[in-house]
Amino acid sequence: MVCGSKKKSYLKSQNLKIFGQGKLNGIVQISGAKNSALVLLTASLLTNERIILENVPRLTDIEKMRNILENLGVNLIDKNNKLEIDSKNISIKELPYELVNGLRASFFCIGAILTKFGEAKVPLPGGCDIGSRPIDEHINGLEALGAEIIIEEGIVKAKIKRKKNKLHGTHIKLNFPSVGATETLIMAASLAEGRTIIENAAREPEIQDLCQMLNKMGARIYDAGKEKIIIDGVNKLGGCTHKVIPDRIEAGTFLIAAAATSSSITISPVIPHHLEAVINKLQESGSKINIKGNSITIIGKEIKGVDIYTAPFPGFPTDLQAPFTALMTIAKGESKITETIFENRMNHINLLKKMGASIKLNKNIAYIKGVQTIKGMDLVGSDLRSSAALIIAGIIAEGISKIYGLDHLDRGYENFESKLEKLGIKISREFNHKTFGGKSYKIETKSEEMSKFRAA
Ligand code: UD1
Repeated sequence: MVCGSKKKSYLKSQNLKIFGQGKLNGIVQISGAKNSALVLLTASLLTNERIILENVPRLTDIEKMRNILENLGVNLIDKNNKLEIDSKNISIKELPYELVNGLRASFFCIGAILTKFGEAKVPLPGGCDIGSRPIDEHINGLEALGAEIIIEEGIVKAKIKRKKNKLHGTHIKLNFPSVGATETLIMAASLAEGRTIIENAAREPEIQDLCQMLNKMGARIYDAGKEKIIIDGVNKLGGCTHKVIPDRIEAGTFLIAAAATSSSITISPVIPHHLEAVINKLQESGSKINIKGNSITIIGKEIKGVDIYTAPFPGFPTDLQAPFTALMTIAKGESKITETIFENRMNHINLLKKMGASIKLNKNIAYIKGVQTIKGMDLVGSDLRSSAALIIAGIIAEGISKIYGLDHLDRGYENFESKLEKLGIKISREFNHKTFGGKSYKIETKSEEMSKFRAA
């Protein structure tokens, strides 16, 4: 029996087979940040000149964003992890539903398209099924900048009805430091007339990365990474070369996997202060951490139960809550995991319980009593980060696990299983030929060489 998905939509044709009780050892290379790369691709719409983006991870989310840009008329040349982006021939200001479906970051294009062309039509966003994820902060901010917005049949239609087709600088105070809304509004304000101040802005490293690239393009953005960001609009933006920052969430996932198996690994390249909240919690739970330049070494020891409380940066990232919960299932003592950012980000809890974890869930708070060991089984990940958590659980567990729902995993982790395999985990992707019979299905498994598989 495969546990975990009420929907039948997950990818049954692939799974990761994991031999449990593994140990990690060695050095792992961290890819470029998914969430940075997505918004930087969007920002390339703001100029007619060429943008060269380096260190772009190969992921299905990035592939989707590329398709969206190409559909708008952007010319993209792919050289390994480097993308050359030429947006000078954009003719369409409308994103088609079929392409944006399932990619929340596609909505963040609205600010760039609107400010550059005076109008934009973008379908309401999708993404991971982790809560309602409204867009009111994006809409209110764009309206404050002078856009007229209506939502019709699931499409957000925005227009600038002012002389010269330009948004105007203004003072915006976000009710919540939304990452996406801060990004949308920074891009919109970068070509507006006059000064925009965004208060209660998100401070995530990906926002700082966006502002750095925009400033290279000629924008005048001050205090990115602080609660109050100032943007002096400019008439036009130019080209640049920019390297995507390392993915702090991928980095954190590997550190947690090492801690969960009392292993020692080095991750590189990383920007250590992006991981401060995670490092603090790993140290508190018993791991030793050494930081040297752009690499972090973790020496996993005994695991003690600690409490975590997710919060906007620099707090503990919601994207690492699920992986950290997997670690806590086998910690000594008790721990309390509080999710504060998304209302439905506890999908992994029931599955971890099926594996033998002792967890009580009360709304968005998980109370965990550490157990000696959990048991391997077949499970379906239902969102990106819960899939990563299940893989960590599979590595910890006794016996074999098969993790399905890899379409979620492939959205956000570049070559995850081959990186784990290089670190010594017995893991392989199986490609299945399935036959359905009534309500159940039978899977005949055919393993293939890892090297043949490409995530995106
Ligand atoms: C981004 C990240 C995601 C991460 C999240 C929080 C990308 C592509 N995704 O998502 O990986 O988990 O930040 O760090 O960068 N909200 C509103 N109104 C809005 C916008 C958001 O109420 O207009 C709420 C959301 O429902 C959610 C919270 O704010 O509860 C956080 O959302 P936000 O920071 O916007 O996350 P995303 O940008 O969608």
